[in-house]
Amino acid sequence: MDINAKMQKAFSDQITAELYSSNLYLEMAFWFRKEGWKGFANWMFKQSDEEKQHAMDMANFVLNRGGAVKIGTIEAVPNDYKEPREVFEKTMEHEKHVSELIHALAELAEDEHDRASVNFADKYIDEQVQEETSVRDILNLFRHRDGHTVATIDDIVGQREA
Ligand SMILES: [Fe+2]
Ligand SMILES: [Fe+2]
Repeated sequence: MDINAKMQKAFSDQITAELYSSNLYLEMAFWFRKEGWKGFANWMFKQSDEEKQHAMDMANFVLNRGGAVKIGTIEAVPNDYKEPREVFEKTMEHEKHVSELIHALAELAEDEHDRASVNFADKYIDEQVQEETSVRDILNLFRHRDGHTVATIDDIVGQREA
């Protein structure tokens, strides 16, 4: 069963959102680099790559099912942060927003009786839980260790490998 036009549009919108996410985290990585936070920058570069992979994975899914992908306008991303904690708070906000988008995508797939898209979207529902958990863990480190030990958090966060 080829993917229908409505689902192609919904996936294209989600792909655009994933590419926005990738740019958002890339810019955050640049900000961290500028401020000398190498660990946080490392984490954000990996995060940016991961979002790009999400876009690619979704595009492959649509193309494998005989559909087309149309990347939409990608808005400029913010680059004016004050301190590391704020960047992760913004990351959390953004991931919660993306979770809502993924839920809407899954619901549309159900309405369209597109089982393949439902299965595919379910994988990203799990992924979003993981994303929110990893950012929550970092925000908890900020909470527990507080202000003057941000450098320790930079070390821990910088250990991310993939
Ligand atoms: Fe993503
Ligand atoms: Fe994400």
